[in-house]
Amino acid sequence: AFDIGKLNKDTGYFTYDPGFMSTAATKSAVTFIDGDQGVLLYRGYPIEQLAKHSNFLEVAYLLINGELPGAGEFEKFEHDVTHHTMMRESLKNFFQGFHYDAHPMAMCMAAVGSLAAFYHDSLDINDPAQRKLAAIRLIAKMPTIAAAAYRYSIGWPIRYPRNNLEYCSRFLHMMFEVPSEPLQMNPVAAKALDLLFILHADHEQNASTSTVRLVGSTGANPYACVAAGIAALWGPAHGGANEAVLKMLAEIGDAKNVGKAVERAKDKNSGFRLMGFGHRVYKNFDPRATIIREMCHKVLGELGVKDPLLDVAMELEQAALKDPYFVERKLYPNVDFYSGIIYKALGIPTEMFTVMFAIARTAGWVAHWLEQHETPDAKIGRPRQIYTGAPTRDYVPADKR
Ligand code: ACO
Repeated sequence: AFDIGKLNKDTGYFTYDPGFMSTAATKSAVTFIDGDQGVLLYRGYPIEQLAKHSNFLEVAYLLINGELPGAGEFEKFEHDVTHHTMMRESLKNFFQGFHYDAHPMAMCMAAVGSLAAFYHDSLDINDPAQRKLAAIRLIAKMPTIAAAAYRYSIGWPIRYPRNNLEYCSRFLHMMFEVPSEPLQMNPVAAKALDLLFILHADHEQNASTSTVRLVGSTGANPYACVAAGIAALWGPAHGGANEAVLKMLAEIGDAKNVGKAVERAKDKNSGFRLMGFGHRVYKNFDPRATIIREMCHKVLGELGVKDPLLDVAMELEQAALKDPYFVERKLYPNVDFYSGIIYKALGIPTEMFTVMFAIARTAGWVAHWLEQHETPDAKIGRPRQIYTGAPTRDYVPADKR
């Protein structure tokens, strides 16, 4: 042991806040969360109102620009996004280089990072017009890249974006064969997807957005920043949870096995948690989960899909909400608990769930990245540490160790 007190005296004192439980890394005007009250506002607008009245592209405009679009502004934004949906042919060829069973998140992360190699006209982070162009490109190209990753993984030819369709219909069209799979071209499916994208569009300084901002603070280009955001999103404690929820529900298999799963989740030695439960900020309920739960019943009904996993999910929610372990720790279903069931009903395969999240969250990532670069005197993000390693010592030659 050595004297940490002396070391700290020598190097100065820092706040020790593992997991950034109580550290605000930035000021931001994009999104507000009150975790105790279950409130989520994008630019001041309650998520419930946006879910009811808006659409994903309008929400993306709002997040980026700070205001809802005025007359003609939405049309221009939609036109600009639509204009940038294509992928270069040589980028399309990148997909052939991946192993056939690569996870689509791996392909998306690489393809998004590679955009920096194609678009030199939007790499100058000091030019506001170039920054906006990069933001629009990322929102436009994410669905194209995501659908390409999926189609490559199942051995189908990659589809070009059909630009006479709206954002979500266009994505579904790129993903699936038409008309052999009419389900996905159902307007109910596009609307459901749009709503899920609104709910996932931003969530202030979550792990992936903080990653985007940290990488952005070094002056890295926007494509590199968003690729880093995708990497952070992939983990099961963050965006990977929606995939993990569906796997968990499938493993539980039947409502009668729910009790056992709850008991296992309470046992710290089991290494098992109820995926889709708990949240770092929401200690009451996640307002997005409330919207998604309602929507889940509606969408499955409208699409005529019966899914026994929905029964397992409802049983699990009820069992956890009654259990003192979950009540005391304020562990409620989060946004990911029901979203996977809706994605599944839309025919989206499980390994694409986190990719869906990434498409939506791109709007938030670029909004934060833009805000960061509009803020004067933004500093490089450079946390400190409390050193716990060896004290100073002399090098020992190999034959004396
Ligand atoms: N199942 C069982 N126990 C849980 C769960 C869970 N899902 N989540 C938290 N706990 C327990 C912990 O074991 C801990 O118990 P203890 O106080 O007895 O030690 C307590 O609740 C607090 O949990 P922490 O992990 O300290 O809480 P933190 O805020 O760090 O983590 C997180 C939040 C990562 C979301 C956590 O609840 C979790 O792992 N949930 C499951 C994964 C998930 O659904 N992630 C999606 C998050 S939402 C999003 O990214 C969109």
